[in-house]
Order: sequence, then C-alpha cells, then structure tokens
Amino acid sequence: MRLKTLILLSALLPLCLSHGWDPLGWLFHRHGQAQYFGSLQADTTGGACPAECDCPPTFPVAMYCDGRGLNAIPSIPSRIKYLYLQHNAISAVPDSALINATNLVWLFLHHNQLTSDAISKEVFLKLEGLERLFLHHNNLTSIPPNLPRSLRDLRIDHNRIGKVIPTDLEGMDNLTILYLHVNNIADMGTSLKALKSLTLLDLSNNKLIKIPDALPEHLHQFYLEFNSIDSLPEGFLGGLAQLQYVRMSHNQLTNKGIPSDTFNVTGLVELDLSYNKLERIPTVSTTLQHLYLQANQIKGMVMVTLIVSIYYNVIIAYSLYYMFASMQFPLPWSSCPNQTDTNCSDTPIATFPYAVILILLIRGVTLEGAKDGIEFYIGTQSNLTKLTEAQVGVQPLIICLSM
Ligand SMILES: *[C@@H]1O[C@H](CO)[C@@H](O)[C@H](O)[C@H]1NC(C)=O
Ligand SMILES: *[C@@H]1O[C@H](CO)[C@@H](O)[C@H](O)[C@H]1NC(C)=O
Ligand SMILES: *[C@@H]1O[C@H](CO)[C@@H](O)[C@H](O)[C@H]1NC(C)=O
Ligand SMILES: *[C@@H]1O[C@H](CO)[C@@H](O)[C@H](O)[C@H]1NC(C)=O
Repeated sequence: MRLKTLILLSALLPLCLSHGWDPLGWLFHRHGQAQYFGSLQADTTGGACPAECDCPPTFPVAMYCDGRGLNAIPSIPSRIKYLYLQHNAISAVPDSALINATNLVWLFLHHNQLTSDAISKEVFLKLEGLERLFLHHNNLTSIPPNLPRSLRDLRIDHNRIGKVIPTDLEGMDNLTILYLHVNNIADMGTSLKALKSLTLLDLSNNKLIKIPDALPEHLHQFYLEFNSIDSLPEGFLGGLAQLQYVRMSHNQLTNKGIPSDTFNVTGLVELDLSYNKLERIPTVSTTLQHLYLQANQIKGMVMVTLIVSIYYNVIIAYSLYYMFASMQFPLPWSSCPNQTDTNCSDTPIATFPYAVILILLIRGVTLEGAKDGIEFYIGTQSNLTKLTEAQVGVQPLIICLSM
C-alpha cells in the first residue's frame, strides 16, 4: 500500500513544480513602455521628471528609470509613489538620494550593484509609507538598517547576507512577504518572532543548520530547500495553525532528527521532504495532500528497485540464452527431445512470427522519412566512427541498468 502511494506521489511531482512562478512578475515588465518613452521629457501635466527617466502623464505618481544603465539614483520629485530603478548599475544610496521621496510606496532597486557599506544608515527612515521594497540581486551583506516599519513585501534574495539580527525586522507588523533565499544565512536568531503578519517566508538556498527559533504564527508558506538542516525541534509546526506548504527538500534530515509527531498536524497541504536522508516515511496527517519523498534512503524504494532490476535481468538472460541457442544446427527445439512427452509434437516451423516481422518491415520502410533514417543508419550519411565513441554506447547501457 505504501509503495503504491509513493509511486503515485512521485508521479504527481511535475504538477507542483510551478512554485517558481511569481504572481507579481508582470509588475517588473512595464506595459506599453515604447508608447511613453521619448515623448515624456516635455511632460505636460505630471510635473518635473529627470531626463534619464520617464513619468507617464496618465500615471503621474510613477517614475520609470529601469534598465537605463544608471550609476546613481536620479533626483526624485516628491509626488512620486512608485519608483522603478531596477536593472541598472546603481552602487550606492547616499543620504541625499531619497530626501524628497517621502511619498514612496513602492521602491524597486533590484538587479543593481548595491553593497551594504554604500547604503546610508538612515536613508530609508523617512519613507514612512513604503510598502514594497525590492533589493534582490544586489551585493548586500546585511539587511539595510532602519527599514520602514510600514513594509509589507521585502525581497532581498540573491545577495550575500550572512546574518539577520532582531533589530533588522523589528516592528514590521504588516510584513507579509519576506524573500531571503540564495544568501549565506547561517543564523536567523529570533528575528522572525515579531513578524505578526508574515505569511510567506523563503529561506531556501542558505546555510542554515537548524530551523529558526520562534516562527511567525501566521505563516502560510515556509520554504527551506537547499540548506543543511539535519534535525527538527520538537513540535515546531504545532503553533502554526495556518501553515499549508512546507518545503524542505535538499537538506540532511534523518529519521532520528525528526520527533515522531512533527508532521501529524492538521492543515498541512504539501510537505516536500525529497532529497534528504530518511530511511522511513515519517508519520503525516491524514489531511496532507502532497508528500514528496523521492531521493531519500527509504527501504521500500530499495525493494522496488531490486524487484524491477531482477525482472529485467531475467528477461535479458532469456534473450541471450535463446539468441545463442538459435545459432546451433539443428535447432534444439526442431524436434521433441522425448517422444513420450504429449505436450511436444514435431510440427513445421511456425511461420506466423516471420510474416508479422515482414509486415512490420514493409510498413516501416514505407513511412515518411524512412529513407533518411536508413541513410543515416547504414547509408551514405552514416558515421560509423560514432559507434566507437564510448559515450554513445554507455548511455543506453546506463538506462538499461537503471531500469
Ligand atoms: C529636493 O527638493 C528640493 C526642493 O524642490 C530641491 O532643491 C532638491 O534638489 C531636491 N533634492 C533631490 C536629491 O532631489
Ligand atoms: C560583489 O562584491 C564582491 C566583493 O566586494 C565583488 O568581488 C563582486 O564582484 C561583487 N559582485 C557584483 C555582482 O557586483
Ligand atoms: C499596518 O497597516 C495598518 C492598516 O493599513 C496601518 O494602520 C498601520 O499603521 C500599519 N503598521 C505599520 C507598522 O506601519
Ligand atoms: C495524529 O494525530 C491525531 C490527532 O491529533 C491522533 O489521533 C493520531 O493518533 C496521531 N497519529 C499518529 C500516528 O500518531
């Protein structure tokens, strides 16, 4: 029964690989840029706009400066709420840069060359209405200090952050999305505890060796893939009533490191424990819908592989035996070895298989493209030296053996 479930579950995997999809992806790619670009510098209604950016008159609170090779932040008129500075070569945010930008609600600075040293200590402090701050794909080694407490969506993934301290995220009562994946974080300390509204936390691809202490109580999605976690604290999912998705593939989890009732919690919809070191299937809640366990060391898996390989080996052994037997004359099966055996009688060689093979051959060579195939196989286009290259021969062999 368990084996069947496992096979079914692994078949479901491709359906769930869509989690890399970003529902806000469309925001990064502004629609209709071509329409606005170049015609706006003379700016009719919206007010001032720096020459290197454009500010659509139809949307005067937005300023688009993305993908223009900028090295520095241009001067920002105070009316601007939505500021797009991504995909540039900006390396610093000095004190003066955001001085007039106190109305910002969205600030996109991802895909630049920011380093932590080059971000002024209090530069974000005055942005009291900032809700969305994107700093991913930069060169930061820590979360910038004094971020506005009004943030709802903070993305600092793909940097070089090594440590997160409690003051970094303190008081962010409205933060719901926190992306910290692909950094060097080894320790989160207790920095997550205060995040009352956090629902999505991505800490995958870091250097964590344990689950962070004090997880936010409203967490809905928790991603921890590609870390080095080998054990889980007792009842760590217990207080997280809204948690539905837990992804912990590519860690070092063993059965010994997982307290017995850890995953027997209601509410969980998806649990990914693939690519760990489990030898047994942990107890999970009956409400769980998706459980991934591939690439562990589960004994059941070993048995399936063993049975399948015995099965194929027997078939191959028969084929080889009869191939060599068929090279004898007379054929061993052309007469009955024992005339008293009523199950055996001397009959002419069966012709039906040959007829079928002939029909298939004729059908095959009359199909479209058959001529090209033959040319490449044994005709003018064939490359016999390819056959001597080890790689060509080895691949099918590996496929055979791994079945
Ligand atoms: C801020 O606004 C003042 C007054 O409009 C202007 O003189 C100054 O250059 C602005 N500074 C920046 C960095 O945009
Ligand atoms: C990040 O910083 C390091 C060290 O300062 C530097 O070697 C590297 O080139 C930087 N990477 C980028 C993408 O700016
Ligand atoms: C969180 O959002 C609420 C409602 O929008 C707002 O009143 C409150 O000031 C925000 N909290 C912070 C810390 O900004
Ligand atoms: C899982 O939890 C439920 C309810 O909390 C309990 O009745 C059940 O015995 C547990 N299952 C196992 C295998 O521990």
